[in-house]
Amino acid sequence: MAGSSLRRLALVHGVNLDMLGKRSREHYGTLTLAELEQRVARYARDRGFATGTFQSNHEGVLVEHLHHLAGSDIDALMINPGAWTHYSYAIRDALELILVPIAEVHLSAVDAREEWRRISVIADLATVRVAGKGLEGYLEAVDELARQVAAGRSPWRAEPSDE
Ligand code: DQA
Repeated sequence: MAGSSLRRLALVHGVNLDMLGKRSREHYGTLTLAELEQRVARYARDRGFATGTFQSNHEGVLVEHLHHLAGSDIDALMINPGAWTHYSYAIRDALELILVPIAEVHLSAVDAREEWRRISVIADLATVRVAGKGLEGYLEAVDELARQVAAGRSPWRAEPSDE
């Protein structure tokens, strides 16, 4: 049987996450980005998702990818924006265009690190947030997204009012 009934999950990584495996292993672990993506995609497949992956170190390129996703037929988005999490209103604005469940994931415990990492400018757009659990956290987020998609949680955001 073809995988026609699979839902579509977009897995998006931001700045510096292409350096996983080399970068601060005490915070981010030893998996490379390719290994992490593969593990998430395999897990997600067993839960009914086909996963598309994307990473960029260029903010505008990531914004344009989010525009592309907003006009596509994805069912859920999982994003780790890296340091952009903490200050990129451009990425936040682009995420507002995406009306499917969004998971914000971080490998490290952002709330237990430097003060500036505690701020997330995308937090209120995420329907699930997981941090500090490494790969396990991504898998947890897949489970939650699968639940939300099955429950039809989309679009969940209020329409902007005229006032
Ligand atoms: C990160 C946490 C961010 O503060 C940091 O800038 C990253 C990775 C994480 O996965 O823990 O690049 O998003």
